[in-house]
Amino acid sequence: MDSRICRVYAIDLLYNLASRLGLGKRPDFRVDETLLGVEIGVDRGWLSEYLLHNLPALNLMMVDPMMPFDPSSRYHQGGDSRSRRDDRKWNRVRAEVRNRISFAGSRAKQIFQFSADAAGEVADGVCDFVFIDGDHTYGGVCEDIAMWKPKVRPGGVLCGHDYGNPRCPDVERAVNDSLGKANLDVGMGYTWYWRGATIYSEAA
Ligand SMILES: C[S@@+](CC[C@H](N)C(=O)[O-])C[C@H]1O[C@@H](n2cnc3c(N)ncnc32)[C@H](O)[C@@H]1O
Repeated sequence: MDSRICRVYAIDLLYNLASRLGLGKRPDFRVDETLLGVEIGVDRGWLSEYLLHNLPALNLMMVDPMMPFDPSSRYHQGGDSRSRRDDRKWNRVRAEVRNRISFAGSRAKQIFQFSADAAGEVADGVCDFVFIDGDHTYGGVCEDIAMWKPKVRPGGVLCGHDYGNPRCPDVERAVNDSLGKANLDVGMGYTWYWRGATIYSEAA
């Protein structure tokens, strides 16, 4: 996905972030304050590129170990084909991502760690948004929500991908069980947004 040729979920996320964070006052989403966003699960960096390109104020933490997964790990057992990439394949992906986001300079920070380890190094209440798109198993999504929910500031956005996607049936159940179905907004392209942290900006 080139930053100009994007997928439905990316557009949905961008416009939800703009409205929920009150960035909509300028058509280019330029705001004076820096935004701190976290993407859990980066893969080839398509979404990262799209967000960095379209949100000039964004500093993005891109969390993904980008290394072979243990065959006994939950993610591997979950069956995502990315979990079977070997060293050579991940090295290629790493290089591809580095190249894809190079335009953003220090605004893009790649963190080659598991989500749980990265969360341990982030203070509570500092993130403007966290987008959960890593380990799509039931346990993986529950764990990511539990670890990253406290990191979102009041008025920020906790959200993720693949809610209702028939190819990832565990995600919807995990998000509902963790946050309560009544507290969720479901967007286009299988996105989900937790209402708990978001305060809608009247000016947006
Ligand atoms: C669906 S892809 C991410 C897609 C990306 N967000 C996008 O929109 O282009 C899932 C990624 O999650 C990563 N992943 C799996 N388990 C993880 C974990 N525990 N912590 C961080 N990343 C994980 C995988 O390596 C894989 O690259």
